[in-house]
Amino acid sequence: MPVSAAPSVRPAVPSSVPLRVTVGEPTGVEVDPDLWGIFLEDLNDALDGGLNAELVRNGDFEFSHADRPGWGPLTGWRSSGDGAVEVHVEDPVHPNNSTYVRLVGPVELTNDGYDAIAAREGDRWRLDLFAWRVSGPGEASAVIAADDGQVLAETTLATEPGGWRRVVADLAATRDGAGQLTIRVPDGLTLEIDVVSLRPLDDDGRVLTFRPDLLSALRDLAPSFVRFPGGCLAHGLGLANMYHWKETVGPRHVRRQTFNTWGYHQSRQIGYLEYFELCETLGATPMPIVAAGVCCQNLRGRARAIPMEEMADYVQDVLDLIEFANGGQDTTWGARRAELGHPEPFGLRYLGVGNEDEITDEFRARYRLVADAVAREHPEVVVIGTAGPQPFGRDFEDGWVYARAEGVAVVDEHAYRTPRWFHQNLDRYDTYPRDGGQVYVGEYAARTSTVRSALAEAAFMVALERNGDVVRLASYAPLLARVGHTQWVPDLLYFDATHVLRTASYHVQQAFSRQRGTAVHAVELAGAGVEGVPVAPWGGGVVRMSAPGAVVGLADVAIDGAAAGATLPSEAGDEPVTLGTVGASAVVELTATRRGGSEGLVLTIGSEDSRDQIDVRLGGWQNKTTSLNVQWDGISNDVDGPTAWPGLRTGEPVRVRLETDGPRVRVWVDGELRHDHVLDERPERRVVAGALSRVRSEVDDAGAAAERPEYVVRLVNASDDARAVRVDLPVGSGAVVAGEVELLAGAGPEDGRPFEVSPVAPVRSSLSGRGGFDIELPPWSFAVAVVAER
Ligand code: AHR
Repeated sequence: MPVSAAPSVRPAVPSSVPLRVTVGEPTGVEVDPDLWGIFLEDLNDALDGGLNAELVRNGDFEFSHADRPGWGPLTGWRSSGDGAVEVHVEDPVHPNNSTYVRLVGPVELTNDGYDAIAAREGDRWRLDLFAWRVSGPGEASAVIAADDGQVLAETTLATEPGGWRRVVADLAATRDGAGQLTIRVPDGLTLEIDVVSLRPLDDDGRVLTFRPDLLSALRDLAPSFVRFPGGCLAHGLGLANMYHWKETVGPRHVRRQTFNTWGYHQSRQIGYLEYFELCETLGATPMPIVAAGVCCQNLRGRARAIPMEEMADYVQDVLDLIEFANGGQDTTWGARRAELGHPEPFGLRYLGVGNEDEITDEFRARYRLVADAVAREHPEVVVIGTAGPQPFGRDFEDGWVYARAEGVAVVDEHAYRTPRWFHQNLDRYDTYPRDGGQVYVGEYAARTSTVRSALAEAAFMVALERNGDVVRLASYAPLLARVGHTQWVPDLLYFDATHVLRTASYHVQQAFSRQRGTAVHAVELAGAGVEGVPVAPWGGGVVRMSAPGAVVGLADVAIDGAAAGATLPSEAGDEPVTLGTVGASAVVELTATRRGGSEGLVLTIGSEDSRDQIDVRLGGWQNKTTSLNVQWDGISNDVDGPTAWPGLRTGEPVRVRLETDGPRVRVWVDGELRHDHVLDERPERRVVAGALSRVRSEVDDAGAAAERPEYVVRLVNASDDARAVRVDLPVGSGAVVAGEVELLAGAGPEDGRPFEVSPVAPVRSSLSGRGGFDIELPPWSFAVAVVAER
């Protein structure tokens, strides 16, 4: 972990609130050594334009309007000169790479890449492409040139007639600068090109697969496993978009490319072999997630399922994947792996089947086929099941019922929630059955890149460790996001062409992952505030309606049974209109008729500044669902739904009734009860501690081998008060303990933003004491102390 050196922990200052942490004996709970891993999905340009070191964008000319409206074969490219650039599809390099370009000289074709290529004198790159010299004299060349035309590196291209030939040439920077790759074709020469690649070479002349600074940031996380390729990407939007691993291995030009669920293009240059190699590089075990034979339900018309008569082939593909990862070279797919350059197996131990799927009969039937086959053929592989997109709700409940009935070993839960939710749910796993499947918290994050959210995650992670007998695995999500190219926030690491921005959440993940323990110890907290920060009871507020993406007419508005005045606006659009003010218990009724647009409406009750409110979304996502959301401090959570709904239709009135009875919120649409939810008013536990021990082997003064416990103590102070903390360890009051502490502190709860570097960085200092240690925890801080008896 990159840390700044600092003298030693500051002594407690008188104004600090005292906190006593008593670490007791082991509880008997052991933490799984695989607990902390990472989640890698190709969204936010995580791969192409990110971890993939490739510098050419759309080098295959395969972008299309299916990726994004307006995109096509020449997206990312521009040309100049009197010649021509023509797009062709006849006689392609490979049927899976069907589009290429013909360059009729004199012409220059420049790739915009992912921002400029940064060059330092001496840097080297490998240019690799397919070319077919069609006619004419002269030689084409490739240059990396700055905007002002200054050439930073160049090479000629030895092309040949008579068919597609691979052309490989190295370029070396002769000066510093930033530029773009241009293919130059002289007057008279006609050349066809495809599969254009430019990758950096390392000091030993090896072509880089992964961008080194991002790779090093991942390595610093010391993950035990890597989950890939998703997320939603794994099951895809439609059967043709489902991720099939075999389509992603082999030479780049034979890989099948497709649109990306997240609105761009999947080149699959990072395919299954590269994912496995990444795991190996990171020293992590691979955790592929395969579709459970159904694609994403968030598709118009809902999920599609692989026909049952085709499931045998699909199941075989999954078994082949395990053989590709683990099989000896005497197996078909182990031999294929060796042929692709990796004779040694990759040691796959986990396989996820499904991602956030709706638990339908179609899902169940197909999940069972895949899981049974893996259990039969590869009992050494742990199959992970799925329990919906949220940590509650119908798919969550049904997913768990199904998993327990089927004896699923581990179930994947997801929680993208507010910091408050995390602080209110630290006991979530305390009551989980210990005999009914373990948990993989496969995707979680507190919104949204602030110190407050990072500390909420730290508190939650303490609770995950404490429940290590039921929580086996966990991974924050998403991992990577290129600034300016994001579909999802928050993310763990932001980056641009030359910088990697570690967030506060990244430092928290790193602190847990790099300092692990094995045995969980009992911990007692004593001091003001340890019982939690009370949550204000629901009190009503201003009633508003808006219709983002639509115009909705309003009629027969009644609040608490009384017709609202004639002065009310008659319709709502993007901007909210105010309908009145209500108390904690209220009834709001109205008739809404869409007059135009394509979306539905939003009805809210909340504070004047709209930071704290409940909102009902009728037609929330593409006008397909209803949901009840709660927003605290400007950060929103869906607390009930989204639940499928036919949608608001132009000209068809709906009668809406929103009723609050203190914390109970109910919503009816045309008389149908759609939401019934009790607001969570439990206190937020923001001062949290956890303790683990591990065995440390040493050689004593007499030269004899000795083993003794080393304690890992985690302290979260997500409050405005500094804490003077006394930690008592189970070592005897006179025993001298010493070690180090890493402290993340120095910023306020709202500091930290998506796309910015963390406002706090870990600072390490030494620590010692008798029977335990004393430490001053600043407001909004997180500390991990590692100490042993001396
Ligand atoms: O992490 C982003 C997305 O969140 C994942 O693809 C999906 O599983 C979840 O909804």
